[in-house]
Amino acid sequence: MSETSITGDPRRPADAPPAPAEPAPAESAPAQSVTEDGGGTEGVDGGVGLTALLVAAARAIETHRHDSLAQDAYAEHFVRAAGVCADWPVRSQQVPDGDANPLWGRFARYFGLRTRVLDDFLLRSAGTGVRQVVLLGAGLDTRAFRLDLPADCAVFEIDRAGVLAFKHRVLTELSAAPKVKRVPVAVDLRADWVTALTSAGFDPDAPSVWLAEGLLFYLPGPTETYLIDTVDRLTTRGSALAFEAKLEKDLLVYRDSPIYTATREQIGIDLLGLFDRGPRPDSAGGLAARGWSTSMHTPFDFTRVHGRGPLPEPNDALEGNRWVFAHKP
Ligand SMILES: C[S@@+](CC[C@H](N)C(=O)[O-])C[C@H]1O[C@@H](n2cnc3c(N)ncnc32)[C@H](O)[C@@H]1O
Repeated sequence: MSETSITGDPRRPADAPPAPAEPAPAESAPAQSVTEDGGGTEGVDGGVGLTALLVAAARAIETHRHDSLAQDAYAEHFVRAAGVCADWPVRSQQVPDGDANPLWGRFARYFGLRTRVLDDFLLRSAGTGVRQVVLLGAGLDTRAFRLDLPADCAVFEIDRAGVLAFKHRVLTELSAAPKVKRVPVAVDLRADWVTALTSAGFDPDAPSVWLAEGLLFYLPGPTETYLIDTVDRLTTRGSALAFEAKLEKDLLVYRDSPIYTATREQIGIDLLGLFDRGPRPDSAGGLAARGWSTSMHTPFDFTRVHGRGPLPEPNDALEGNRWVFAHKP
């Protein structure tokens, strides 16, 4: 299957097309808000880009579990290719305390479960005839390579240029071939991503399915609102969106939780420093007000469905996490 790459310029927010009846997007903020990501880099080697490697490592571990929920044969190659995480595990056997480790045990399992649930969501949407998939903040997602989507599907992967360049390098070295048409779209979601996406071939008049997996809490609230409103604007009936949200009013309540502490101390990623800490919009409510049908679940609901995965625990950084599934009737 073919691949096309489109690069948007994140430093040209002024070129964003006028959006009638919508507030000016937060993307039209000064250029430095687009280039800063809290870590001073737009690749996978720091800042929020590094979280893509964290999820890849978790997927590698999940892949090799005897009770695996999701399979991603590419995940460990990303981890091994990035010098910054050379000593991260890609098998649970490499974690001295195994499943008891809050990061590579419980948190990794969370990502494995999330991968499985959203794989199933995409496959169900494709089963209803949807042929366009948009991955917002795609990171090192390899669904275009590993899922049995219909061959006439197009998967648009939006992330920043540095992340997609790293992904391209690793997949090229593996001679990996996507199973569907794959279209990387290098653009910052705080810039004019709509032009980048439509220029890449996305058709707003055909049904589409969208994922915002592990993304929204890194974005400023107004950017999330614009993103959700824009998904509504770019979708027809029969389209679907799944996203992950955090409901906590104060994220710092869990600053000493085992998950945040282990992630900070074992691999130097301070998630609370990367999350946007401003007020969050009610995106599920916003979609419902626009006529979408929505359902919201805890991850633990799916642990019970699958018979494995994380369960609630005291001082739990996952307590406010919700997975929202929305359909446009
Ligand atoms: C935790 S990773 C999740 C990646 C992928 N969705 C997954 O679940 O494997 C977050 C991703 O969001 C991307 N991201 C964060 N802020 C972004 C922005 N403003 N524009 C584009 N991508 C962004 C990061 O580069 C990173 O790849």
